[in-house]
Amino acid sequence: RASEEKAARLQDVPYTRLCSSKSILTVNGKFPGPTLYGRVGDTLIVDVINRASENVTIHWHGVKQPRNPWTDGPVYITQCPIRPGTNFSQRIILSDEIGTLWWHAHIEWSRATVYGALIVLPKEGDAFPFPKPSAEIPIILGEWWKSDIRQVLSEALQTGSDPNASDAFLINGQPGDQYVPHQNMAKHTNNVMNNIMFFKIANHNLTVVGSDAAYTKPFTTDYVAISPGQTIDILLEANQQPSQYYMASRPHNIAGNFANTTTTAILVYIGNYTAPSSPPLPTLPNIDDASSANNFTASLRSLATTDHPIDVPQKADTELLFTLSVNIFECGLNESCNGALQGRFRASINNVTFVQPKIDILEAYYKRVTGVYEEDFPGNPPFQFNYTMEFVPRLLWVPQNGTRVRVVEYNSSVELVFQGTNILGGTYHPMHLHGYSFYVVGRGNGNFDRATNPSGYNLVDPPLQNTIAIPRNGWTAIRFKANNPGVWLLHCHLERHVSWGMEMAFIVKEGTSRDAKMLPRPADMPKC
Ligand code: C2O
Ligand code: CU
Repeated sequence: RASEEKAARLQDVPYTRLCSSKSILTVNGKFPGPTLYGRVGDTLIVDVINRASENVTIHWHGVKQPRNPWTDGPVYITQCPIRPGTNFSQRIILSDEIGTLWWHAHIEWSRATVYGALIVLPKEGDAFPFPKPSAEIPIILGEWWKSDIRQVLSEALQTGSDPNASDAFLINGQPGDQYVPHQNMAKHTNNVMNNIMFFKIANHNLTVVGSDAAYTKPFTTDYVAISPGQTIDILLEANQQPSQYYMASRPHNIAGNFANTTTTAILVYIGNYTAPSSPPLPTLPNIDDASSANNFTASLRSLATTDHPIDVPQKADTELLFTLSVNIFECGLNESCNGALQGRFRASINNVTFVQPKIDILEAYYKRVTGVYEEDFPGNPPFQFNYTMEFVPRLLWVPQNGTRVRVVEYNSSVELVFQGTNILGGTYHPMHLHGYSFYVVGRGNGNFDRATNPSGYNLVDPPLQNTIAIPRNGWTAIRFKANNPGVWLLHCHLERHVSWGMEMAFIVKEGTSRDAKMLPRPADMPKC
């Protein structure tokens, strides 16, 4: 079992984008941060050394970390912050993930600049279930604000309104960049903070072969829709006239006045040709094209072959229904809320707006500290109504603040249905679960109906994901086996929604056998 030692040094470094400079938080001075490589089954050790001026934590997005919630990274869920001048050695235990994942800071909005790709290759000697690519190129979609990211967040929280839109979308840290492909495998990672993104390369088809570090049935498309947190592995065949072609990315927005810019990079063929003065640009789906976004998501299927079987729970021991909503908090039951938006934005799951505790939930659970969290996170919406009707009265649903977790039995099969709501107009939510990949067994429009919808589930080749965009006006059902004991965060991967409280945590109990227990607590856990 290979093991690699790496150090991640957090430091503030000046960077210039869009003709404007600022100091940003980086890993090893790089933006985006270094690409981390591993093979299936490896354990990587990363020494996180904080030499910056602010608190940090690092999360390995999509790595299940079997029995090892200790170094998962989300602040005040599994650890306290790594303070300036201190270190934390993190073990990244790869199990069956294969393909592209990524890592990012998991405290406030620091992931705006602290992120990088994590590529998990097959075991030595194992082949890909597709022709071996001649190169692997991570393409990371990101976002840039000219102002300090801490400033953007604190202003938004102070006013209680939408954060300022970013100034540009980025491809690999640049509003423009160049690639040298041959037959290349593009590994897409989406670190955009607040939008689903469309991506396309002029004149080229893309073959999707994996998502969230699981193989998918290959399908060919001319565009990609990728939600924050998601990763997609794509084969790109450089089979066009040797020349230069633009790739481009822009957001899919259905609500809010968020950034609407297109960012481009250039695909450059090697060879003898005269570079065109204006390479062809791809035509991206329209910004409000929800069906292109939904159709792409619905096209993902597990590979599900004898060599790469799936293991989807055929029935569920626990059935949960979670509504997702953006709410207005402080207007309470005051009639004046009815007209213009007033009060402050909050976001909630089953009407609970998550409040960060002062010490991390894992520590409190492990040391049996009381008063940090309650174990009563509701398994069903506290009120039932027509979740997706066009005009939900704004006063219908005012969320409650709380640090509430849901306790799940070891090895039970969990079915979790996310229900989008139309409170305040509604939007999609890319929901991400730590510690697990889950099978996306069903999705549909309107209100979920337990009596009829489960008969339409796909239990044959559902995609295995760690992040799934829940459509506006619809629901999505996921299943997973709770075989990873620990404390695991579930949250929307739109950063503004997290800041407004759209998160909760599961505590998955330990089983009785030795390999059903959490690994020992590392001695260097950051102090609270
Ligand atoms: Cu990509 Cu909780 O994170
Ligand atoms: Cu959301």
